[in-house]
Amino acid sequence: MLLSGKEPSAKMKADARILSEKFEKKFSRKPCLAVVFVGSDPASAVYVRNKKKACAETAIDHMDVDLDENISEDELIGRIKELDADESVDGILVQLPLPSHIDEARILSFISSEKDVDGFSAANLGSLLTEEKALVACTPKGILYMLDYYHIDTEGKNVVVVGRSRIVGKPVAALLEQKSRNATVTLCHSRTKDIDYYLKNADILICAVGKPHVISEDMVKKDAVVIDVGTNRVEDSSKKSGYSLVGDFHYTQEDGGSLKVSPVPGGVGLMTVASLMENTIIAACRRMGMEAEDL
Ligand code: GUN
Repeated sequence: MLLSGKEPSAKMKADARILSEKFEKKFSRKPCLAVVFVGSDPASAVYVRNKKKACAETAIDHMDVDLDENISEDELIGRIKELDADESVDGILVQLPLPSHIDEARILSFISSEKDVDGFSAANLGSLLTEEKALVACTPKGILYMLDYYHIDTEGKNVVVVGRSRIVGKPVAALLEQKSRNATVTLCHSRTKDIDYYLKNADILICAVGKPHVISEDMVKKDAVVIDVGTNRVEDSSKKSGYSLVGDFHYTQEDGGSLKVSPVPGGVGLMTVASLMENTIIAACRRMGMEAEDL
């Protein structure tokens, strides 16, 4: 079975739109997301376009901040500070990766946690660990929504997360071991010894490595749930664009066979974008002194 992101992301966005419209009625303005895009990386450009399209679908304003590839770190910090101080901006999204001459962590540190709709800040990641109110990173949030949508129970399950990034691996592991989820989580990475052992024992596998087809169906249980976070561009001369998108996980049957697997494209990526919209509304509400569920 395929765990498509289409239906759950459409539901998430439809609900977000309702909240957004309530917000506008109450505060006479729409929630606003600043979308900061430095340079012209084609893959990032696609993501940025998708995020802006989702803003339109969910009645969220976006402020486009397109900056030159060669912008200095200090100049970029200046722009971030302006956005952070701008009363009309509820959330700030800095599309990653940034050009190599810029220290990503330093840039992100200038986004206050209230506007950190990506949930990358130390404050938001810390609040996730202490189970306090936080803005939860979009991909982990989208994965949990997808699991719920497809009624995949995590209680007592062996969840194996491959990849320890701050964006996906760490937060998704932290969320799944919470008492509300009760999974037994193993976080594997490039230095894990005998990773095959962990993969074989996974009820739910979350692949967040970022390398095309590094894990394959013969490495997991026949009835495993596989959430594929990888979105890798590989050369493909049969495509007009010259490339195709593939996940971290390789399976042979089109429908996943006995596995439950999220496809790439059309899986987790859609959930990430929908979660960003929800986070923007949550951030907008909190800035106005309320919670989105009380709109
Ligand atoms: N680049 C790849 N994934 C992400 C993401 O979730 N947020 C941002 N800002 N950049 C990304």
